[in-house]
Amino acid sequence: MFKSYHKIILSTVLLASAATSTVCAKNADASRTYTNGKKVIDGGSTYPVKNNKTSAYYVNTKAEKGGFTFGRTPTKNEIKAWNIDVMPDGTGLPEGHGTVEEGDEIYEAKCAACHFDFGTGGSGYPALQKGNAYEAQKSLKNQRTTPDADGPIRVFGSYWPRASTLWWYIKTGMPHPAPMSLTNDEVYALSAYILSINEMKIDGELVEDDYELNREKFMKIVMPNKDGFVPKIDGPNGVENTRKFFNDFKNYGNGTRCMKNCFEGKPVLARISGSGISDYEPPITTKRSMPAKKEGAAGTEHPGKKTYEASCAVCHATDAMGAPRVGDKKAWAAVLKKGIDKVYHNALNGVNGMPPKGGTSLPDDKIKEVVDYMVSQAK
Ligand code: HEC
Ligand code: HEC
Repeated sequence: MFKSYHKIILSTVLLASAATSTVCAKNADASRTYTNGKKVIDGGSTYPVKNNKTSAYYVNTKAEKGGFTFGRTPTKNEIKAWNIDVMPDGTGLPEGHGTVEEGDEIYEAKCAACHFDFGTGGSGYPALQKGNAYEAQKSLKNQRTTPDADGPIRVFGSYWPRASTLWWYIKTGMPHPAPMSLTNDEVYALSAYILSINEMKIDGELVEDDYELNREKFMKIVMPNKDGFVPKIDGPNGVENTRKFFNDFKNYGNGTRCMKNCFEGKPVLARISGSGISDYEPPITTKRSMPAKKEGAAGTEHPGKKTYEASCAVCHATDAMGAPRVGDKKAWAAVLKKGIDKVYHNALNGVNGMPPKGGTSLPDDKIKEVVDYMVSQAK
């Protein structure tokens, strides 16, 4: 009897960690029911062990000696389902294909909400391009030897040393609210689109609208910053490269070693006197006082404004997402016809393109506060 319960709980636990938080919550409820009459703390499961003792973990009595005794040994198929990363050498990269145009359409529908048009990025969401990847490219090594030199701009095209990460990241992590929901062909199409907005070439050919990406072509992508990371820690010579790099002091610091007479002239020191540091403007004192309150500014700002900007503006600042634009009186008049309680309810539970709580995990009253702010902007 116990055994079959364990099976149910274990499979839900395995699924829960792979799936979204809503599934998690459901499974927590499920495990609450399946606890063999034991009281459950925090929705977790307790498992009988021996002599009336219980454990928060299922004890694997079949575990090999010296191995882990928690949970159970995963099956070959389970490992296969989890082991889905894509390596630079192509391991894990499945067959498939998709064009830039197809990717463009999927992008508009599933990615633009957060990464904005053409991957330009938005409030808090990373940009997926900053123009031509080759022009935005400068080795990281510049920054060590010439501290003022610009490094590569930190976006996919100019910074990432491997394209395999892109495929894998999109497949397993995006779109953010629904990871693992894209087909392999869709991921190829999106990758093609992202290469195109980075103005990248594969095998000398510019990735343009009608370009069709597939596995074979994907493997030929050469990232502009592939050698930008130093020392080269990859590959069979990784350790040796790293050692060599750090043995040569020219590779870091200012390139010269100095033990005495290192300064030309006299070093300038800031002196610390008894009660405060006086060489600074304004002087730093040891007197403690609260910063003066700025008249108006903080006091008049709506308490929901900051959260709105951080979590909701991504969709509500424009009409593009089909969300009522904040400040658009007509749109909000239509929303408010339902009555404010229904609007709160929709904001908390989601409606059509509006994710529950706008995709955040903020407490209910915080969300209501933001809704109040949104409503106040339409008056
Ligand atoms: C609801 C918002 C949201 C949506 C929709 C979304 N993303 Fe993201 N994306 C994010 C966030 C947040 C990050 C940063 C995650 C992190 O750094 O942990 C990110 C990171 C990325 C990155 C890595 C960028 C970098 O330089 O680190 C890529 C590539 C990406 N997303 C592609 C996509 C694609 C393709 C889609 C559509 C299928 C998509 N995203 C949809 C929120 C979103
Ligand atoms: C990923 C995009 C997205 C984000 C992020 C988002 N919203 Fe929305 N929101 C929408 C869309 C789309 C609608 C229109 C839904 C409909 O009625 O079809 C909407 C509608 C609403 C409505 C009106 C509900 C109604 O009854 O018609 C409220 C209120 C609202 N959002 C609040 C918020 C708050 C608060 C946040 C941030 C915590 C937020 N939204 C974040 C997309 C978003």
